[in-house]
Amino acid sequence: MAVLETVLSRIDANQDDALKRLFGLIEIPSVSTDAAYASDCARAAQALADDLNSIGFDASVRPTAGHPMVVGHAKCGKPGAPHVLFYGHYDVQPADPLELWQTEPFKPRLADGPTGKRIFARGAADDKGQLMTFVEACRAYMQTGGLPCDVSILFEGEEETGSPSLPAFLAANADELHADLILVCDTNMWDRETPMVTAMLRGLALEEVTIKAATRDLHSGLFGGAAVNPIHVLARVIAGLHDQNGRITLPGFYDGVEELPPEIAEQWRDIPFNPAAFLGAVGLSTPAGEKGRSVLEQIWSRPTCDVNGISGGYAGQGSKTVLPAQASGKFSFRLVGRQNPEAVLNSFRDYVQKSLPPDCRVEFQRHGASPALQLPFSSEALGRAHAALRAEWGREPVIGGSGGSIPIVGDFKRSLGMDSLMIGFGLDDDCIHSPNEKYELSSFHKGARSWARVLDALAK
Ligand code: BES
Ligand code: MN
Repeated sequence: MAVLETVLSRIDANQDDALKRLFGLIEIPSVSTDAAYASDCARAAQALADDLNSIGFDASVRPTAGHPMVVGHAKCGKPGAPHVLFYGHYDVQPADPLELWQTEPFKPRLADGPTGKRIFARGAADDKGQLMTFVEACRAYMQTGGLPCDVSILFEGEEETGSPSLPAFLAANADELHADLILVCDTNMWDRETPMVTAMLRGLALEEVTIKAATRDLHSGLFGGAAVNPIHVLARVIAGLHDQNGRITLPGFYDGVEELPPEIAEQWRDIPFNPAAFLGAVGLSTPAGEKGRSVLEQIWSRPTCDVNGISGGYAGQGSKTVLPAQASGKFSFRLVGRQNPEAVLNSFRDYVQKSLPPDCRVEFQRHGASPALQLPFSSEALGRAHAALRAEWGREPVIGGSGGSIPIVGDFKRSLGMDSLMIGFGLDDDCIHSPNEKYELSSFHKGARSWARVLDALAK
């Protein structure tokens, strides 16, 4: 039997054990944004390093100022073989709101879905299920004839908080992490049957704004009418950010935003995308963004400004007649093209400052900023991966974009000069970052098979 066939059969035979291993990883609640889970993040990192060592990698947990990295290396012993670096993240988003989960977020369960079995848990898709597809492919190779190329692995535990420790870690370990190509499994398929290589990601700039007024919360009867209400000020700030056409009003915001090249625009028109079905799946019907843009443009190639959370005053049960001393909002900007994250945030801060009435002041806290990413739409490696995916799924893979962000992929290019190949098996209805996150068992199984084929194709 050809080597690849042996490996694919091994993946099939390993399925039950692979699922147990994934469940073990998911059970560790490695929520990176909340310090209460720091020891769980460390435990997840150790578990991954142990697993990699058990299959023949030379892997270790590397401390950083934040959550640790996991780095592992395995050689194939074939002279001239390429060297790939696989990147994934073991941290997950908070499970909140807990009451909306059908079962506990960190107790993974397998359940029947309309199209096959599904794994429900926080991190099932983003990114534990996804990163384990690659580990399972390596395991199958290493348990049979050995890897087809040299493989290094980098897992981080701070992706969901903007990867604060990763740029310095890359710079300090540039030689060790250098490879011919980076592989990333943290993106989606086009649909359940059609694989996708993701060539564009939006950038992201995050800023928290706190507007402060009186020295303390006030009785709204005794002071109401005379005292400025910071929630109202925040609401006006938010309302002024978009015009009637859904365009963002910040001066200079659209600098660096380009129209799609005609050939890409044409490709996108041919993609069988149904905006009504896309919105209908989440209970919506009408595109709410920039007028005159297709939904695919709105989510892939146009920038956004959103408020992800606001707080201030009393939000508990019943009522409380209070004028809050402060109000805050968490803002995010998805960026495209050559938009400069620093310039966007400067323009935003400037706008907020200028919007303040007397007696109000503002404090800003930034939570990270990264530019958009554009990878080549064709290359030798992409062509090989494309053929490998076609062989596994029996469909022409889509080369597309995604509105999400993986800030570090840009740093791989800037810091190590390396291109990435982003292939993932998530689906739009996986509910990542939401309650009842799931990963299709078929994504997990065929994802591992896909990586086995991609490694084989890259090694030839
Ligand atoms: N894996 C996602 C991003 C993603 C999902 C890209 C699906 C393409 C398809 C990633 O883990 C993520 O959620 N990133 C955050 C970035 C961040 C700094 C919090 C995002 O996009 O919000
Ligand atoms: Mn992710």
